[in-house]
Amino acid sequence: MDAPLIDPFQRAISYLRVSVTDRCDFRCVYCMAENMQFLPKKELLTLEELDRMSSAFIRLGVRKLRITGGEPLVRRDILTYFLAMSRHLDSGALDELTITTNGSQLHRFADDLAAIGIRRINVSLDTLDEEKFARVTRWGRLPQVLKGIDAAQKAGIRVKINTVALKGFNEDELFDLQAWCAARDMDLTFIEVMPMGDLGNEDRVGQYWSLKDLRRQLAERFTLTDLAERSGGPARYVRLEESGQKIGFITPLTHNFCESCNRVRLTCTGELFMCLGQEDQADLRQPLRAHPGDDAPLEAAIRGAISRKPKGHDFDYSRSEAGGQMSRHMSHTGG
Ligand code: GTP
Ligand code: 5AD
Ligand code: SF4
Repeated sequence: MDAPLIDPFQRAISYLRVSVTDRCDFRCVYCMAENMQFLPKKELLTLEELDRMSSAFIRLGVRKLRITGGEPLVRRDILTYFLAMSRHLDSGALDELTITTNGSQLHRFADDLAAIGIRRINVSLDTLDEEKFARVTRWGRLPQVLKGIDAAQKAGIRVKINTVALKGFNEDELFDLQAWCAARDMDLTFIEVMPMGDLGNEDRVGQYWSLKDLRRQLAERFTLTDLAERSGGPARYVRLEESGQKIGFITPLTHNFCESCNRVRLTCTGELFMCLGQEDQADLRQPLRAHPGDDAPLEAAIRGAISRKPKGHDFDYSRSEAGGQMSRHMSHTGG
């Protein structure tokens, strides 16, 4: 392996999130406007380019790859790319290959994903009520997602549920979601809404439900033990002693986890974002396409980008009426 990627704050970059498409079959109200404009297909990295790009990062020390979107499973022939990445699992260069999905296509892909070596996945699920699910995703069908989760578990994949905490929407489902996950032996992580992307008429500040409040409610019913475990990621975990279950909290706005950040994110067009909450990015598509047979310029561009990784993010709802709003959508950067 070449010299590892170390940023200016001595953080080793060992985790790459790759958005393989900005498209999604849902339009979650906190994520996209209903009439969201997607990129023309020709802007996207091809599957071969995604392979070359990801493999360069793995050569430079990335040990974990998380595939995101948009919805990664709506990209045509995406299994080809997963299969290509699984060679790095087989060679021992990669510790983990995983995806974050909305679950809508999971029933079709679960067995293949398991066969390729995917052991754990994250599925986004904000409510267990069919009508509310259709409302928050704008048209998603809950039974299809539940079928996908079942298929994944049957295939031996561990499922973690991600729930965006939404004021006035799923506040009343906190304990239902917790019990539902406990019954299925699934971990559950709550996420604070982050101010990213134009939502049309939706009001994001109004959607914001502080996880401090959510945690207080959990503590009224359960004994919470803080777990030291951190994956270099944003989640903090507690164990509910009564159920043995692990609950995560992703609170970018009230808790700063940047000091241990180990990750960067590649967009579907080949830009590298060094931080989810900053606009600075590096164009990796140019060195990739300009030198088809030579990865040295690409690797140099990656190193150059990592040397610009900022100390931390810049989210702040209090800075303006709309909050420290970023124009970029989460689906563009892959969450
Ligand atoms: P791991 O990959 O195992 O750490 O899981 P994860 O929970 O980070 O992944 P997932 O794709 O499920 O993301 C859950 C939420 O965490 C999404 O809303 C992401 O946007 C958010 N998230 C992930 N990484 C970061 C980060 O570096 N900064 C911030 N602010 N949020 C992040
Ligand atoms: N704030 C917080 N979470 C978001 N997600 C998408 N957009 C936002 C946002 N603005 C979540 C999805 C999914 C994860 C990858 O990101 O629900 O669980
Ligand atoms: Fe699609 Fe995920 Fe965004 Fe919902 S949050 S619209 S499922 S990318």
